[in-house]
Amino acid sequence: MTDTITLFRQRLADSARAVEACLSASLADRPAEGERVRPERLLAAMRHAVLNGGKRLRPFLVMETAALLGGDRQAALRVGAALECVHCYSLVHDDLPAMDDDALRRGQPTVHVKFDEATAILAGDSLLTFAFDLLAAPETPLPDAEKTALVLALARAAGVGGMAGGQALDLAAETAPPGEEGIVTLQAMKTGALLRFACEAGAILAGAEAAERLRLRRFGETLGLAFQLADDLLDLTADSATLGKATGKDAARGKGTLVLLHGQAWAEQALERLVGEAEALLAPYGTRAAILVEAARFVASRTH
Ligand code: IPE
Ligand code: IPE
Ligand code: MG
Ligand code: MG
Ligand code: MG
Repeated sequence: MTDTITLFRQRLADSARAVEACLSASLADRPAEGERVRPERLLAAMRHAVLNGGKRLRPFLVMETAALLGGDRQAALRVGAALECVHCYSLVHDDLPAMDDDALRRGQPTVHVKFDEATAILAGDSLLTFAFDLLAAPETPLPDAEKTALVLALARAAGVGGMAGGQALDLAAETAPPGEEGIVTLQAMKTGALLRFACEAGAILAGAEAAERLRLRRFGETLGLAFQLADDLLDLTADSATLGKATGKDAARGKGTLVLLHGQAWAEQALERLVGEAEALLAPYGTRAAILVEAARFVASRTH
């Protein structure tokens, strides 16, 4: 057991390093073909948003699901980097005064605090667009059909019916508190959609058949619910120094969370159930999926 945990940590650290190297090199000041110049302050804000720590769980999931299904590692790395750009953009905008109004992210000042609001908005816009650049670029070693499928799946995960739509529901919930079903829907969208994409992307880029793609997609959905439940628990129980972001904000802002609706004990039990479901979904892969099973446990028991 300990061995799997150690291996999981190593692989998470390895993939994080590789993704950061890819992002740092891609977000250099030299313009790409078809670009004019990359304005210094905007680029610095993008780099701050992306290269300021973070668990890098989403790229890790892309790379591990791809490895499980025989996908190309370099392709998975670039797809993971693209997804991390969308995730980081979502955090930059989530922290804006018009949204959660947070000053601390990953233990550092948020982008609008370190730079300014307009730059933070534009850094988010540019990161979202950059994600599709990374997917479509010739350096991503995938056939066009797989690239198109990834572009479509990421667009749907990030947009009006996915993450951004979920953020809209999250904000609406501050004034009109939803019931359990409404909370599950908003969380499946604001957080679940990108985690689901992370797992499904591995199957897409590996050219997996429909049944496998569906299985990985359901694993990602389950992980997504567990992830936001853990995030909401940590908002209640963790301290800001460990978490690297403000805590106690959900109750203060009247956020729609299951932790606030049902309490901590209920949430802890629900997390255990979700981890069990995630494990069961990967049972057909046996020990080959041990690292992904460990990732599900990590999501539920994480401390930051
Ligand atoms: C935080 O995501 C935002 C949510 C979706 C709850 P992470 O906890 O993955 O943030 P980083 O990337 O590790 O900072
Ligand atoms: C954010 O959820 C989900 C996103 C799409 C960014 P939260 O608002 O709970 O995330 P934190 O707690 O600020 O990281
Ligand atoms: Mg939020
Ligand atoms: Mg927030
Ligand atoms: Mg939160």
